Amino acid sequence: MAQRHKQMFYIFAGPLMRANGAFYRAVLAPRGDEVVRVQLGPGQKNYLPGWINVDANTFTGKCDVWADLRNPLPFRDGTVDAFYSHHVIEHLPDLRAHFDDMFRCLKPGGVFRVGGPNGDMAMRKFVEGDAAWFIDFPDRRDSLGGRFENFIFCRREHLTILTYSWLEELATTAGFIDVRACRPGGETSYPSQFTPEVLAKEPEPTPDCPHTLIVEARKPA
Ligand SMILES: C[S@@+](CC[C@H](N)C(=O)[O-])C[C@H]1O[C@@H](n2cnc3c(N)ncnc32)[C@H](O)[C@@H]1O
Repeated sequence: MAQRHKQMFYIFAGPLMRANGAFYRAVLAPRGDEVVRVQLGPGQKNYLPGWINVDANTFTGKCDVWADLRNPLPFRDGTVDAFYSHHVIEHLPDLRAHFDDMFRCLKPGGVFRVGGPNGDMAMRKFVEGDAAWFIDFPDRRDSLGGRFENFIFCRREHLTILTYSWLEELATTAGFIDVRACRPGGETSYPSQFTPEVLAKEPEPTPDCPHTLIVEARKPA
């Protein structure tokens, strides 16, 4: 969707999503007696059965809760066991608020796994002059700088550069512990939450130089 259509969508649908998220949180959200796993931003093809999938796009994708992730998450305090998001947080304007809110919603001992464009690796590949590492999405560019810009800003859809130290700062400031970077698609400290079905949503063309930076952490028990 063109950027200006997206902006129009959020202007018109924003109040409805805010109301829907608030209603879900107050009335329908689980109270945490059972295992609650939440995926934020499943998009068109990453819906996870058995998880509560939250997205603004309920038209071309599939989700269980229609909500804007720029608002407080539609879950009660201390009721979620695991949050998962893949290529979503770089679209959010206030990552500090987002990490604080994941912390609020998680049960003691709850965990998150988030991933997005790997800013550390992109900068390394830029300095190495490895233009071939950068992908032709969303646009095809010829120059090294153009390919770098395309990867980082994605037609201005991305609002930040994700690096490990930035995510670690956000997580530890929110109160998380055991912050760790993981290999996409295969490595997790929490295999009971992030099962092979979840990890399968993380295709990585160059596992040794991953395009996606994945970070996990835990709320103290
Ligand atoms: C790049 S897609 C990633 C989809 C999927 N997780 C994947 O890895 O293929 C980003 C997703 O986040 C959702 N998203 C972005 N900003 C959002 C917001 N403010 N509120 C709710 N969903 C949002 C989009 O609708 C989209 O489904």
